[in-house]
Amino acid sequence: MKLLLISSSPRKAKSHTFLLAKEVLRGCNIKKTESEIIHLCDLKIEFCHHCEACHKKILACSIRDDVNWVLKKMLDADGIILASPNYINQVSGSMKTFFDRSSHFIHCKRLLDKYVTGVVSSGSGQDKNVLDYIEYYAHTCGAQYSGGVSSAAYAVKDKLEDAYQLGKKLVQDIKEKRVFADQMKIIKAGREHFKRIMQSRKDDWKKEYEFWQDKGWL
Ligand SMILES: Cc1cc2nc3c(=O)[nH]c(=O)nc-3n(C[C@H](O)[C@H](O)[C@H](O)COP(=O)(O)O)c2cc1C
Repeated sequence: MKLLLISSSPRKAKSHTFLLAKEVLRGCNIKKTESEIIHLCDLKIEFCHHCEACHKKILACSIRDDVNWVLKKMLDADGIILASPNYINQVSGSMKTFFDRSSHFIHCKRLLDKYVTGVVSSGSGQDKNVLDYIEYYAHTCGAQYSGGVSSAAYAVKDKLEDAYQLGKKLVQDIKEKRVFADQMKIIKAGREHFKRIMQSRKDDWKKEYEFWQDKGWL
């Protein structure tokens, strides 16, 4: 099993979000070699230029930075923990910038058969919007969502047990390949929506169109 934790707090060791996310990972109870932690603030991540190179040729981004390295790690993982502080009722800018750079994952549902969990901390504890957005991102990339945990920064210690239990659930979801019918309905509807887009752009987005053909989705 491979788990990937992507954290977008710039505060790293001092981060409340990361403290909670580490507890999710601890709950997973897997060997150290089976998990990897990435702090987005350690990486070079530029804004998407919307050149569409990643749709014309798969993972062929025109920007030379660290994004493809992270995307490949995601492709290699069974479970992905996405941890972000609440910045103005959303994921942080660095997480959103990273998401923007992964639009090929959305077009081709590259996280299908994987599981995502969301982790958020905030000043107020009002994090539903942020966790919902992480869940939306998981679904739009084809992944099922194992659940989320969030906390106000001042109360993070009270949520460590919830985080630990979420880790245990993530691992069980992966091991048993659990299928959540309501989520699969959303994921399949998203794919149907993209089917029409793929057909209309097949001459531009050649490699993504071929990917769809190979999968038998057309
Ligand atoms: C730019 C910025 C925007 C923020 N916006 C919100 C917000 O909308 N709501 C909220 O409750 N807290 C907000 N906060 C507070 C952080 O979410 C909170 O301190 C969080 O625990 C930081 O996480 P970290 O310790 O993992 O970096 C904001 C903080 C910053 C720096």
